[in-house]
Amino acid sequence: MTAGSVGFRFWGVIAAAAPLILGAGPEPDPNLQAVQIVCGRCHTTKVFLKEPRSWERWNDVFADMTQRGANGTDEQLERVTTYFLENLTLVNVNTSPAEELTGVLGVRYDVADVIIARRQKEPFANLAQLASIPGVDREKLEQRKSRILF
Ligand code: HEC
Repeated sequence: MTAGSVGFRFWGVIAAAAPLILGAGPEPDPNLQAVQIVCGRCHTTKVFLKEPRSWERWNDVFADMTQRGANGTDEQLERVTTYFLENLTLVNVNTSPAEELTGVLGVRYDVADVIIARRQKEPFANLAQLASIPGVDREKLEQRKSRILF
């Protein structure tokens, strides 16, 4: 794991920056395009595009693929990270760290902090309780609910 650890840290830094990049906009999705460029070079993106995983497991994949030669510009890697968080990552509202809450739920860091403070007092039981936190976007929750665990 020594050679991979550099890549792992690298992706971690990018992940921290990811919520700053607001993706999407009009078609085609530039984040998905970056995924196709960075991750579609050696194999089809079908090997992962339909299969959500935890952020920890994605970081293992990123480290593995970095070791196999996956690379891209900083902007491309940021877009890849954003795409994975927004579309392919599972989050646990009651246990996941702030960076995963911001990325998967699409909330700001101060909102993630409120979620964390609240869950320490009383764990969230369902989506409705999460949606009641100011700054949480109900529409995004609805779209991403299959990846939001409690
Ligand atoms: C330089 C070539 C290369 C690039 C670029 C690449 N991969 Fe891979 N990937 C491979 C190879 C080789 C395998 C087969 C590994 C095996 O069979 O053990 C693989 C297998 C996989 C698998 C299946 C194994 C698993 O862990 O589930 C996934 C998922 C995957 N890649 C995701 C990605 C993602 C995401 C990216 C972009 C960040 C990416 N790959 C970029 C070479 C690459």
